[in-house]
Amino acid sequence: MITITVNGQERRFEGDEDTPLLWALREDLGLTGTKFGCGAGLCGACTVHVDGEAMRACQIPVNMAQGRSITTIEGLTPAEGLHAVQAAWVAAQVPQCGYCQPGMIMAVAALLKGNPRPDTAAIHAGVTNLCRCGTYPRIVAAIGQLVK
Ligand code: FES
Repeated sequence: MITITVNGQERRFEGDEDTPLLWALREDLGLTGTKFGCGAGLCGACTVHVDGEAMRACQIPVNMAQGRSITTIEGLTPAEGLHAVQAAWVAAQVPQCGYCQPGMIMAVAALLKGNPRPDTAAIHAGVTNLCRCGTYPRIVAAIGQLVK
């Protein structure tokens, strides 16, 4: 049995300790806001925060999450209202299909926490998530609202 801290709560995981954190979150803990895209660390749909840093949950065995603080999109979202990044996403009407957007928002939230005024190069370096709908111009517009 593994105990992990997710969204400020200690949660127990009874499965194989090599299970990717993504599947522990989705299948065992019911936190389905974190998405499966490629399973290979490329797309970023599974992005969560590990000790505040954006990481691909499909690439982290759940046993490596022990003792670290995991935040998912459910934990980023305040009990009432929206996180600032989510509000900017709504204002800029970023999502098309929306599937990749939880991971995208997690990546941007981590970027802005570490660097509240990123330049274009820092945005490209910090947000490597993929969007098959091509919402990138609206993502840049939303980030622009946040760094004014
Ligand atoms: Fe993890 Fe694509 S599902 S990076």
